[in-house]
Order: sequence, then structure tokens, then C-alpha cells
Amino acid sequence: MSFAEDIRVIFERDPAAANLLEVLLTYPGLHALLLHRLAHAMHRRGVPVVPRLISHLSRWVTGIEIHPGATIGRRFFIDHGMGVVIGETSEIGDDVTLYQGVTLGGTGKEKGKRHPTLGNDVMVGVGAKVLGAVTIGDHARVGAGAVVLSDVPPHATAVGVPAKVVVFREPDGSSRRVEHLPDPELDMISALHRRIEELTDRVGLLERLLREQGSGERVSDGTSPTDNRSSIGPARVGRTLREDR
Ligand SMILES: CC(C)(COP(=O)(O)OP(=O)(O)OC[C@H]1O[C@@H](n2cnc3c(N)ncnc32)[C@H](O)[C@@H]1OP(=O)(O)O)[C@@H](O)C(=O)NCCC(=O)NCCS
Repeated sequence: MSFAEDIRVIFERDPAAANLLEVLLTYPGLHALLLHRLAHAMHRRGVPVVPRLISHLSRWVTGIEIHPGATIGRRFFIDHGMGVVIGETSEIGDDVTLYQGVTLGGTGKEKGKRHPTLGNDVMVGVGAKVLGAVTIGDHARVGAGAVVLSDVPPHATAVGVPAKVVVFREPDGSSRRVEHLPDPELDMISALHRRIEELTDRVGLLERLLREQGSGERVSDGTSPTDNRSSIGPARVGRTLREDR
């Protein structure tokens, strides 16, 4: 765990990082991490109150709240940072990236270990909430805005509310789609399409009946079948349509 590493990951993961001075002065994720290391070390030694005060000061300055009890691995990067909350019993592996608005929180129902465990090389997208003592496997990704309430296996991508695994990435870099998300708009369009087809069939049937009726009841004075449509019995049409369903 070194300061140089902390700086290097910022340049690796944030294309906007321009120079060292800017990174040192303007990256709240870096400031929050350094203050957390201090608070965590004191927390482990049983120092009362001060670790929480440091965490509180850090939140005030950076907008990032990390409980002193949280365990964080190497090369951790919080991009932007505002609104990030990391609960007391969270465990974070190496090479993890969090974006702004991420919560690693409890569900409010558990005691003891009640916050998430993130493996190595995990990415949690902007605004995502990971709740409870769930495990996010190594190399997994949590999509922006997701709410994760159950474990996410290694190499998986979980998105949505509640989050579902939609993709697995193989070690060779290829990916395997495992689930398609519900799409209410597509479902509605498909239902309308089916209904139009059904109505088109029924109109076709009606036209056929009209033609048959017209030719069968052609009157002797030579008037055209269409002139005689009024003679078609509605009961017969209705009966035929019902039989056709
Ligand atoms: C989830 C994410 C990491 C992409 O992971 P991936 O494994 O490459 O997955 P894909 O891009 O192949 O997406 C898989 C499916 O999930 C959907 N999906 C992706 N991200 C999603 C999200 N956040 N919410 C809901 N659905 C999402 C995609 O539309 C796709 O569905 P489709 O095939 O029906 O269109 C990415 O979309 C994401 O959310 N990144 C967060 C980045 C971020 O927070 N940036 C902040 C910068 S300030």
C-alpha cells in the first residue's frame, strides 16, 4: 500500500487526470482515502471518538463518507466521489473503482457483518447501491444505478433494480449474455403488433364473407353484389367470427 500507487491508479483510470499537482489538490477520492487510512489505523488500535471525527471531517471536505472500520485494499479509486457512503463492515479488495453516489450499506435488518464484500478488480457504477452482507466477486461490474441485494459472481455484470446478472465475461475477453432485461416498451409494441395482425385477419374474413354473401344473393334484376350488403345477416357474420377465433 503506497502513496505512489494511489496516485498511479488515478492516472490509469481517469483520462481527465492532467498532472500531479492537479491530482494532489483536486481529487476528493484521494483525500478521502488518505484520511480513511489514518482513521482506520486508529480505529484498529481502539482509539475512541477520534477516528469517527476524522471520518466526519473527511465527509465534510470530500463528500465521501467512509466508516473507520471499513477495510480497503490497494489501488482503490473513487472517481468524483460526492455522495459515496461505505459502511463499517464493508470489505474492499484490491484494484476496486467506485463512482460518485455509490453506497455500500446495510439493509437495516442485520447486525454484525452487515455491509458488502467486494473482491479484486470490481467496478461499481455511479449511483449504484450494494446493500447487505453480499459478495461481489472478483472482476465483477455493477452497472450505474443498480440496487444489488444478492451476491454477484466473479466476472459478471449486474444491472437494474433489483440487480440481475446480464453478462459474464470470459478470461479471454469474450462475453456471454445470460439474461435480457425486461423491456416494457418493446412488450407493449409487440402486443400491439399481435393485435393488429389479429384484427387484419378478422377484417379479411369479414371481406371474404361479404363477397360470398354478395355472390350468393345476387338479385335477378342484375344489381351488383355490393348493393345487397344490407341483406347479410349480422348473426351469421358474428357466428362465423366466433367460430374463427
Ligand atoms: C454495466 C456497465 C459496466 C457495462 O458492462 P458490460 O459488461 O460491458 O455490459 P454491456 O455494456 O454489454 O451491457 C449489457 C446489457 O446491460 C444493459 N446495461 C448496461 N448498463 C446498464 C445500467 N447501468 N443499467 C441498466 N442496464 C444497463 C445494456 O443496455 C445491455 O443490455 P442490451 O444488450 O439489452 O442493450 C456500464 O454500462 C455501466 O453502467 N458503467 C458505469 C460507468 C459509470 O458509472 N460511469 C460514471 C462516470 S462519471
